[in-house]
Amino acid sequence: MTNTVITGIQWGDEGKGKIVDWLAENADVIVRFQGGNNAGHTMVVGDRVYKLSMLPTGVIRPGKLNVIGNGAVIDPWAMLYEIDALADQGVAVTSGNLLVAENAALVLPLHRELDELWEQRAGSGRIGTTGKGIGPAYEDKVGRRAIRVGDLRCHQSLDRLIDRLVNYHDVVRAGLEVDPVDPEELKVQLLEIAPRLLEFAGPAWRVLRRRSWQKQSILFEGAQGALLDIDHGTYPYVTSSSTVAGAAAAGSGVGPGDLHHLLGVCKAYTTRVGEGPFPTELSDHDGQHLATRGREFGTVTGRPRRCGWLDAVLVRQICELGGIDSLALTKIDVLDSLPELKICAGYRLDGEVIDRMPATGEEQENLEPLYEVMPGWTGSVSNIRSYDQLPEEARNYIERIEELVEIPVDIISTSPDRNDTFARSGPFAG
Ligand code: GDP
Ligand code: IMO
Ligand code: MG
Repeated sequence: MTNTVITGIQWGDEGKGKIVDWLAENADVIVRFQGGNNAGHTMVVGDRVYKLSMLPTGVIRPGKLNVIGNGAVIDPWAMLYEIDALADQGVAVTSGNLLVAENAALVLPLHRELDELWEQRAGSGRIGTTGKGIGPAYEDKVGRRAIRVGDLRCHQSLDRLIDRLVNYHDVVRAGLEVDPVDPEELKVQLLEIAPRLLEFAGPAWRVLRRRSWQKQSILFEGAQGALLDIDHGTYPYVTSSSTVAGAAAAGSGVGPGDLHHLLGVCKAYTTRVGEGPFPTELSDHDGQHLATRGREFGTVTGRPRRCGWLDAVLVRQICELGGIDSLALTKIDVLDSLPELKICAGYRLDGEVIDRMPATGEEQENLEPLYEVMPGWTGSVSNIRSYDQLPEEARNYIERIEELVEIPVDIISTSPDRNDTFARSGPFAG
């Protein structure tokens, strides 16, 4: 029984959903522990495509328990919409396979509104958020005025909780010259949604502890990526939660000792949605190749993703600071037929060579990537399911990443399909 934490180690969209889905075959429980419906995870199983934002990826496999932990923020309308959309695809999400932490904070319509208002007001200084209200919802959680899932059970105190929240928001809204919130309308909305949401609510921490005692295997499914982490990412161009593997414990209520293997999901190149520094970004033909072949459009917002070469400095930094044990490398097939591949192995900043990304925005914007150039391969690696069958140049590329990052690539993915995934080493092989 190995519990694995699967997190993105770039700027999100590394293919976490695909890897979690593949590993879920041999797991019992799948847990989301941070973020909200800003995430977009796509899974392809034969001719079926599943797109999830709020729900753990395990819902698409029968017989798994899926948990949304206290560290996530939950937009109940979006979650129920997702559940209904899955029902149309023949996937049943019920209180039998989904448990939502009763102490998770809610994302409300007023958060979505504020997210958009701030972004509009920021103009060229905007973050480029997904507009789902995630930042404002986490602000209210940390500000100790959030409404949480279990609060919907307590009708008597709900008025007080709404007042506390609305008092704050009305001050902010007045500054933005927006009408105050109607507390009655908010209460009606919440009471309307409460019965369906509360069906799923419970003490997630306790259920996870029991499952752990029973030696069940738990996967912790990260959202976003470590470079979007509130502390370790490219601040302020980050999301509002802690996205590193360690957050799985605090965000679900298990002990750190229950996190056995930390698997980082790494795309074979780099992408980013939204604003912020991106040292290896390409605006040339190679960038176009990655965008087109990699179908790099956001699942949540449909925005084109910015594309660039693999940045081994950043991957190494994130693995070091997050304690990542091994990597799952995805989308290697997207590099097919590029004559040359580049890997960023260092930066130059103010004439000096450095091997880490500095913490300030100004320094991050001024980094000049130093590349190693490797030959690409002819033909396609799409659908290859064993390491030996990869062309020599692809194996050299993977092995060079391992050398630069100093951890093994345990899992390789060669197409969007669930089955085009294989383990070559580590706890997942054999
Ligand atoms: P996540 O947010 O980390 O789960 O990643 P997304 O699902 O947002 O984006 C990854 C996209 O790449 C999805 O459309 C996947 O179907 C697709 N994908 C995942 N692995 C591979 C792969 O190995 N090759 C190709 N071509 N596509 C992949
Ligand atoms: P998955 O789980 C890629 C980015 C947004 C923006 C910044 C802040 O699919 O990898 P937010 O709405 O969170 O306040 O936006 O974070 N972002 C993501 N980028 N993948 C994601 O999730 C993302 N979730 C948020 O584009 O730059
Ligand atoms: Mg995504």
